[in-house]
Amino acid sequence: MTSPSAQTHLAIVTGVTSGIGLAMAKHLHQAGFSIYGVARNAQKLADCEVPLVGSQCCDLSELTALQACLRDLDLSTYQYAVLINNAGSLDPIGRFESVEPARVAQTMVLNGLAPLVVSGNFYRTLLATKGCVGRVVQLTSGAAHRPIAGWMSYCASKAAMWRGTEVIASEMDASRCQIMALSPGVVATAMQAQIRAQSHEAMPDVDWFRELAAQDKLASPDKPARYLVEMLLADLDGTRQFPHGESIDLFDA
Ligand SMILES: NC(=O)c1ccc[n+]([C@@H]2O[C@H](COP(=O)([O-])OP(=O)(O)OC[C@H]3O[C@@H](n4cnc5c(N)ncnc54)[C@H](OP(=O)(O)O)[C@@H]3O)[C@@H](O)[C@H]2O)c1
Repeated sequence: MTSPSAQTHLAIVTGVTSGIGLAMAKHLHQAGFSIYGVARNAQKLADCEVPLVGSQCCDLSELTALQACLRDLDLSTYQYAVLINNAGSLDPIGRFESVEPARVAQTMVLNGLAPLVVSGNFYRTLLATKGCVGRVVQLTSGAAHRPIAGWMSYCASKAAMWRGTEVIASEMDASRCQIMALSPGVVATAMQAQIRAQSHEAMPDVDWFRELAAQDKLASPDKPARYLVEMLLADLDGTRQFPHGESIDLFDA
């Protein structure tokens, strides 16, 4: 396959308006991809720092909204389309007996269900589009694989997303589309600021995160963004296979 061109290579990024999603969109755009953005805030989407060829305003914590996400996507002019399921939230942080069930449900939908449903919407469109191959990258976390006190909603939703992703990988026609999960490490975004602001009662391990920040050990959002682009370029020029069905953690990378 060829190197990316805006006419033939599309990247769709959810949560494109801030944090890791925005950094990924910037790097993908610089590498030659056209960018299609999904975000919950219409004004932030209109003001997005990256030029968008298309966009959809969608609150991915709402079941009805997320079912419509990417339903009308037109891939007919593209040879290669990558979906980055990045949008996510840590809310609500706190002990299991104190968190509001309605907020837990929103996060289960946003982190756990949305990346699976949106992948399905993308895959159906891709299969109906001749000559376009697809890739899906799910933003996951070490919290999908180990418990962190105070993060019941986050750990449970990311774990559900990862198990669903393994199932999707086993069902996908890998000649048309492939899927992997990327854990970006501890990255300096609003999410980390939210973590450091927690009380010890809500999150007993909060000092570990404060210490990392104090020692300037948080990664820049550019780090996972660079990794993503290198992975896709290697896939495109055939030097390294896309890690279909794998979960890659950048924490120690
Ligand atoms: N930062 C880390 O250390 C870290 C570590 C492991 C995994 N991750 C994962 O990486 C991804 C990005 O995290 P981040 O650090 O960039 O977080 P962030 O700065 O809080 O950004 C989260 C993104 O998700 C969007 N979003 C939140 N709720 C949404 C909703 N209901 N519908 C649609 N979009 C919604 C936000 O939109 P707005 O712009 O409107 O707020 C924002 O663009 C997440 O999946 C997160 O779990 C992050």
